[in-house]
Amino acid sequence: MIERTFAILKPDAVAAGNTGAILALIETNGFQILGMKRIRLSQAQAENFYGVHRERGFFGSLVTFMTEGPVVVLALEREDAVAKWRELMGATNPANAAEGTIRKLFATSIERNAAHGSDAAETAAVEIPFFFSGSELL
Ligand code: RTP
Ligand code: MG
Repeated sequence: MIERTFAILKPDAVAAGNTGAILALIETNGFQILGMKRIRLSQAQAENFYGVHRERGFFGSLVTFMTEGPVVVLALEREDAVAKWRELMGATNPANAAEGTIRKLFATSIERNAAHGSDAAETAAVEIPFFFSGSELL
């Protein structure tokens, strides 16, 4: 089924100059880029976006990381997009990420792990409108 997912190229990946390499992987793996922006998250945006992790010990550090510099936010579409994007990203901890995945190639730690992906279609349906209006998805 054709599906949409939401992705972020995190501040570590953007600062390291890996935006283009990751976008190339996105396109060669059959995703359509429906929306794309380079922005810097505010503290409030990052806290809201990762609100599900508010009680976790790493929350403060995660928010500091996600606001440290520009990110690229993306709305992606392909068959089975949520699962396929998480597969292409690889495991949260790069030490456990499979060869050829974005996190294996570009992440430097469990926190500074290069990319975000929605964990379900229902989550994507909340995360995409967080950053894109309907007319920005083409
Ligand atoms: P994401 O939401 O960013 O796509 O990552 P994920 O589903 O693979 O992992 P999740 O459990 O949702 O964690 C969100 C992000 O928080 C940071 N993290 N740090 N220090 C730690 O133990 C730790 N655990 C998670 C990572 O940046 C992770 O992607
Ligand atoms: Mg997650």
